[in-house]
Amino acid sequence: MLYIISLIVHVLSIVIWIGGVAFVTLVTFPMILREEKSLEQVLMFQGIEHRFAKIAKIMVILAGISGFYLLYEKGLSTGAWIMIIVWALYASLLFGLEKIIFKKLFDKPAGEQLDTKKVFYFLQVFHWIVLALSFSAIAAGIWTGHY
Ligand code: HEM
Repeated sequence: MLYIISLIVHVLSIVIWIGGVAFVTLVTFPMILREEKSLEQVLMFQGIEHRFAKIAKIMVILAGISGFYLLYEKGLSTGAWIMIIVWALYASLLFGLEKIIFKKLFDKPAGEQLDTKKVFYFLQVFHWIVLALSFSAIAAGIWTGHY
């Protein structure tokens, strides 16, 4: 029973979290890149990012707790390792690394102009990479659960 509950929590948290990443990558970034004014671009990005970061943090914690319980029930496998590595990357991004990257991208010394087109292009490519990694973790999970 606890196993099924963990599996439901695991899959639901992943649907919300990776679904959000897919939405940001496929819908939000193209919208931001189409915006001409750089101030509007930064505001749009920060508004969405600020809201989603909280949701993503909760989902990453839930996916982690349920994942470790599933691991306890099923034992380690190659697929589990892939999930753990992608999860650890996400957790470090959300709980620290992201702040450092944003600071580097958006904080410019006084007088220096921020090239927002370049910054958002970089962020979009970065999100494509993260999304591709997430898809491989989903495939690894299905492999682990059904092989
Ligand atoms: C990016 C992070 C993760 C993604 C996208 C992910 C995705 C999935 C998916 C889609 C399943 C398949 C469920 C099914 O079809 O029945 C699954 C199962 C599983 N996950 Fe994850 N997971 C992630 C993180 C983790 C972590 C951190 C752990 C362990 C600490 C973990 C351990 C497991 C285990 C053991 C199963 C197999 C359950 C079974 O055999 O029924 N996952 N995961």
